[in-house]
Amino acid sequence: MIGIFDSGAGGLTTLKAIRELLPKYDLVYFGDTARFPYGSQSPERLRQYAEEDADFLLSRGARLIVIACNSVSAVAADHLCERLKVPVFDVVQPAVEAAQRITRGRIGVIGTRATVGSGVYERLLQAVDKNILVISRATPMLVPLVEERWWKYPESMRIIRRSLKPLKDAHVDTLILACTHYPFLQALIARVMGKTVKIVNPAESTAASVKNFLEQNPAIDAGLSKNSRSLFYVSSDPRHFQETAKWWLGERVEASEAVNPVREFA
Ligand code: DGL
Repeated sequence: MIGIFDSGAGGLTTLKAIRELLPKYDLVYFGDTARFPYGSQSPERLRQYAEEDADFLLSRGARLIVIACNSVSAVAADHLCERLKVPVFDVVQPAVEAAQRITRGRIGVIGTRATVGSGVYERLLQAVDKNILVISRATPMLVPLVEERWWKYPESMRIIRRSLKPLKDAHVDTLILACTHYPFLQALIARVMGKTVKIVNPAESTAASVKNFLEQNPAIDAGLSKNSRSLFYVSSDPRHFQETAKWWLGERVEASEAVNPVREFA
């Protein structure tokens, strides 16, 4: 099985992208809804959560782990890779590769405080090309707009415009949506940024990178099956997660409350 985890429902953007590219694989998803949001947590805490979330997925049969959460990817991906014996994918590296392929030199990054504070995009992009200019901004106000399905309102459009202003003023040519939730706002963000700005959706880049890896490593048993299925677990309030998932994925899902996953969600 391919195991995918996030702080809550946001990682369903990555699950959806993986299902589109790898429809024959069994998936198991864990949303740590009891401890949402992750975007304002310290790196130490996120490393601990990452260990627990991944261990839970392994205990449910995952043989490959995808960190769908950008905040965790930013501060705990190396830690998890070192610790686990199975392949681990994060959403930062594939987004960096996608952005550096298409940029003309000015890349914007929007994400949570944890992601932007980590400086990981600056580090990785400038390691590829030190002439790339990276302008990153924490835009935490965009997460509740998606969580609460508030993007059709004029007030929401004002928040989106205001959040993107520093990136627009800096004339970025490429913008990385470095947060699980932002792909839901992609059309609005693209409209505000203008036609010339290319948008990178890490969920899609990550799905492509997992697919590529599995094609090149056919011996890895990541749950190829005839009747592929997706299992969903959360650490609290499965009903709310199910409502969100129905609306975001366009289908009904059955989510179970993860009782006692690994070190207890106490
Ligand atoms: N999943 C988080 C991320 O991608 C966003 C929501 C949160 O703060 O937990 O960084």
